Amino acid sequence: MVTAWRTVPESSWPDYTEPLRLPDGEVHVWLASLDQPDSVLGILRQSLTATEQARVDRYVRAVSRQQATVSRGVLRHLLSAYTGIPAGQVRLGEGPHQKPLLCDGQAAVPLMFNVSHSGARLLIAVICHREIGVDIESFSRFTDMAGVAKRSFSRREFAIWAAADPADQAAVFFHFWSHKESVIKACGRGLLVPLDSFETPAEPSDHPTPVYLSVPDSDETNWFVRVLDPCPGYAAAVCMAGAALPVTMYQVTASFFERPPRAFV
Ligand SMILES: CC(C)(COP(=O)(O)OP(=O)(O)OC[C@H]1O[C@@H](n2cnc3c(N)ncnc32)[C@H](O)[C@@H]1OP(=O)(O)O)[C@@H](O)C(=O)NCCC(=O)NCCS
Repeated sequence: MVTAWRTVPESSWPDYTEPLRLPDGEVHVWLASLDQPDSVLGILRQSLTATEQARVDRYVRAVSRQQATVSRGVLRHLLSAYTGIPAGQVRLGEGPHQKPLLCDGQAAVPLMFNVSHSGARLLIAVICHREIGVDIESFSRFTDMAGVAKRSFSRREFAIWAAADPADQAAVFFHFWSHKESVIKACGRGLLVPLDSFETPAEPSDHPTPVYLSVPDSDETNWFVRVLDPCPGYAAAVCMAGAALPVTMYQVTASFFERPPRAFV
């Protein structure tokens, strides 16, 4: 029976206060609100390429246009802070299954990242040399938890979810779901890795825990996943390839845009 579902206050994520530096062998995870004032939206939109602006403008709803602008704009500003390249000039590409990546030659050390957004929150994980996946889920996202759990969870995960107190079932569901999505996103192969083909840890853990799975066309066999507690009403997890690395969590606040950090990778 799962009992220890923690809700860590948002304030436990430190604000950005120091210059950005990402040592090899560490993971940084950034939490941002997708709801930004017009002043920040303007700064972020300016950093988008013409193609990205056109893609954002295709959204019918204003809130979707704003959230897409924040997601890509904050990513660009973070990568700028790590590489020293102006946000609008950072070159982004895609891997074989549309996993976004930083094009080669822009950082002294190859910098990898992954993005997730849900509800009003954005999460971005950054690492050197290794594949990384991150997932954030708003508890308001699904109505058919039982159906999704039946289709996507392993037998053990489903049994744990089904046995949970009804008051805890959303937290248990999104614990498993965010962990599994972070693994899928680290592998970058989408549904070529079925969600029910691997197990994630039953208890939230701050320590990266090994996950055993087979990834098509990949030599990587070691994947580690750990919980992130972004804020009440959300679950999140990060998965890294190759080693259980320490994770530092930051928040993107207004000061980030007022006083952009400088970084040395
Ligand atoms: C990639 C995938 C995991 C996205 O998951 P999601 O929970 O819908 O959305 P998230 O917000 O967590 O992630 C979206 C971001 O993932 C990134 N992404 C896109 N393709 C990716 C891939 N192959 N691998 C890793 N990350 C990818 C992008 O940055 C994207 O953001 P953007 O569209 O703003 O650029 C999903 O498309 C997928 O392939 N899922 C397979 C498993 C599945 O069935 N998921 C159902 C989700 S409802």
